[in-house]
Amino acid sequence: MLTGRRIVAGVCGGIAAYKAADVVSKLQQAGAIVDVILTEHAGAFVRPLTFSTLSHRPVYTDLWEPTGEAAARHIELGRSAELLLIAPATANTLARLAHGLADDMLSAVALASTAPLLLVPAMEHHMYNHPATQANLQILRERGAVILPPEVGHLASGEVGVGRFPETAAVLAEAGRILGRARDLAGRRVVVTAGGTQESIDPVRYVGNRSSGLMGVALAEEARDRGADVTLIAGAVTAPLPNGVRVRRATTAREMRTAVFAAIAGADALIMAAAVADYRVERPARQKIKKGSDAENADGSLTLHLVRNPDILAELASAPEADGVVRVGFAAETTDLAGHAAAKLTSKRLDLLVANDVSRPGSGFGTPTNEVTIFHIGGRIEQLGLLPKAEVAARIWDRVAPLLRERQPALEVAASASE
Ligand SMILES: Cc1cc2nc3c(=O)[nH]c(=O)nc-3n(C[C@H](O)[C@H](O)[C@H](O)COP(=O)(O)O)c2cc1C
Repeated sequence: MLTGRRIVAGVCGGIAAYKAADVVSKLQQAGAIVDVILTEHAGAFVRPLTFSTLSHRPVYTDLWEPTGEAAARHIELGRSAELLLIAPATANTLARLAHGLADDMLSAVALASTAPLLLVPAMEHHMYNHPATQANLQILRERGAVILPPEVGHLASGEVGVGRFPETAAVLAEAGRILGRARDLAGRRVVVTAGGTQESIDPVRYVGNRSSGLMGVALAEEARDRGADVTLIAGAVTAPLPNGVRVRRATTAREMRTAVFAAIAGADALIMAAAVADYRVERPARQKIKKGSDAENADGSLTLHLVRNPDILAELASAPEADGVVRVGFAAETTDLAGHAAAKLTSKRLDLLVANDVSRPGSGFGTPTNEVTIFHIGGRIEQLGLLPKAEVAARIWDRVAPLLRERQPALEVAASASE
């Protein structure tokens, strides 16, 4: 995974700077091409010679050195990097990165780079827990940076708390995981829906469903990690909403429809993982329905008259807005999974239909796993075993990515022309 991969390793002025020497050494031994950048203050803790010896490459420290070589190199280093690793990342550098400063070599490269950013914060625990540091980490996380959290243990200050630099192996594992990610959705705009809808009965009650949003959120996270620009249209979800994606909220099926039609303009793919209600209450009560009120029938029962909601995927089948958009539907079934799924694939003119039998254990609503069958145009049917939802999400995008390439190869041509 690391062999031949280009990593820019930024080292900041923290007490853990000496541990970065081991990280650089192990990355180099694993075959990575490591360009080290030391901040000015890191130079007070470790000498550039340590890193140039371990990386077998020049080390960058000063954006302003007289030959101008470093200044010329900062754009190139940022562009050619496949991973920008900053370890240790000091509170100071996190603040500078969060606010886009670029007045030294490391911050300038960080700004010039579109490579994934892996930050390994290490500092005294009050510094780490300070709201300013936490807010800066959150800003960076929302921009897509991966934060490897520090460990709890003895700190250089003599206290015990959170802030210790993790083991070298943990840093290498995270770097490997990021470099192992496919970037096959880079430049694509995708829309994912997640969660359930809620249709009002009265101001306090609604008709809903058991969707947690876990599957849709996993799909959005996977697309984000593979480089896509993601819009997540979230209904009622219990799953935490992901960072680094554009979130639009929709409560009812009709709101979901409006949000999907707004988001689909210019999109390359749509995955409808939300459980959208087929029916809504025709006339929701303006006030809370009370027992014994006029709303009741004579025998004390209550009748809710339900009407059909818009079928978003069916409408998209003939909508000009959705022309050329790769469309993937989900079907949650309890009987005749194959029959219903195949019919839905054709009638809604989908590219893929992901079906799951929600009556099976470990599959469907609220569970961390899912067992799905993927129906392709042309009749191919794939059964994936019981898998974590993140893994199911990866398999689905694995199948969408080639469809995107078939439909819009222009991106690849444009990308290689600009090399
Ligand atoms: C002995 C010593 C140890 C320090 N250790 C840390 C540390 O572990 N983490 C941290 O965020 N800052 C630490 N600092 C503070 C940073 O060195 C200081 O904020 C500096 O401006 C960081 O610069 P840089 O982010 O450009 O490397 C330490 C300072 C000193 C003097």
